Amino acid sequence: MNILLKGGRIVDPLQNIDEEMDLLIEEGGIAQIGKDIYKNMKTDPAIKILNLEGKIVAPGFIDMHTHLREPGFEYKETIRTGCEAAVAGGFTSIACMPNTNPINDNRSVTELICRQAMQYNLANVYPIAAISKGSEGITLTEFGDLKDAGAVAFSDDGKPVMNSTLMRRALEYASSLGTPIISHCEDTSLSAGGLMNEGIVSTELGLPGISNIAEDIMVARDIAIADYTNTSVHIAHVSTAGSVRLIRQAKERGLKVTAETAPHYFSLTDEALSKYDTYAKVYPPLRSADDVTAIKEGLSDGTIDAIASDHAPHSSIEKDVEFEYASSGMIGLETSLSLSLKLVADGILTLDQLILKMSTKPAWILRIPKGTLKIGSDADITVIDPEREWTVDINKFRSKSKNSPFNGWKLKGKAVLTIVGGAIKFSV
Ligand code: DOR
Ligand code: ZN
Repeated sequence: MNILLKGGRIVDPLQNIDEEMDLLIEEGGIAQIGKDIYKNMKTDPAIKILNLEGKIVAPGFIDMHTHLREPGFEYKETIRTGCEAAVAGGFTSIACMPNTNPINDNRSVTELICRQAMQYNLANVYPIAAISKGSEGITLTEFGDLKDAGAVAFSDDGKPVMNSTLMRRALEYASSLGTPIISHCEDTSLSAGGLMNEGIVSTELGLPGISNIAEDIMVARDIAIADYTNTSVHIAHVSTAGSVRLIRQAKERGLKVTAETAPHYFSLTDEALSKYDTYAKVYPPLRSADDVTAIKEGLSDGTIDAIASDHAPHSSIEKDVEFEYASSGMIGLETSLSLSLKLVADGILTLDQLILKMSTKPAWILRIPKGTLKIGSDADITVIDPEREWTVDINKFRSKSKNSPFNGWKLKGKAVLTIVGGAIKFSV
């Protein structure tokens, strides 16, 4: 079915467009953008017309850091429920991390993920394969084979690559293939035993802390390796002021470093743990108010390229336990967009910058042909109602898991229509 999106505010940073226009979808692709498509059109019952006045029409949002739990932990999330949550949250594409069981360190797992996603046909799913076998940090995986099977990037996310020689080899090998490495920056010799951010709150609660330098040191190391080997590196889930400073300096020096943060690192501080809320337990941990300020500055000045959910589903088996024993991670696919829109309302980002960080840049970093409304591209489109107010209710999530510390938050702005390949996958 062909669709005409009529009168929405079309924003595409790549084409420098921000204007009220019509957009015509034909055969799954973007066929026309213009002021008067509707006016000049002959009535054609084969075209579905959607009136989008007052709505924002953006290139489909891309979550470059999601954890789907299939294979192995289907009781937390499956590829299908993860994709349902994705389209409900306005994401047309997601890239999924390899810490499944078995780990996505060989082509049979990569192929399984692609096959399942194709079958459910909701969001586009791009597997991220492991850097090292079993993500154990010892032996590199077969990058070429994994890329050939469909992997778009490599990461041992959930764990750092502690061995610097292995990281150097990974950056060199991936660079020869033109495939990004996504680095989980954590010096485990500093973070070991820690349960939350090291600071006043951890002292008050009597919980062992994880210092900022556990992250900063590894960010500095990865930048040094990328500099020395003239390769690129992408830093995952930036949480500290020190990381922001290091990445800013590296960019000023012209190094090929990109970075993402997640909505919880600019929406919450470690105060969220003051009642031992296991839903707010996440690695890297929620940091101090000063770190949150630095993250916002990094987003605003372009140091942080992308916003990714780090959607990490866990069931009540892992979360409804004593704080010490709770798994870390929170879900984010269905709240990321709205929490990020708050940055626009607060004047930290323009709408154009937000779309850049949630669509254009993730596509560019992952080198996937997405993130624009250019004529001829796939019709992957996110429509946002910027005025829609809603209250987060974990019981209404499509995600199989409910571990969101944002339950009950009142948010403004929401994805109301998600189109993937010209087909409506979600609408309210
Ligand atoms: O809190 C986290 N949860 N941090 C990670 O790096 C991994 C993630 C998960 O997979 O649950
Ligand atoms: Zn992650």
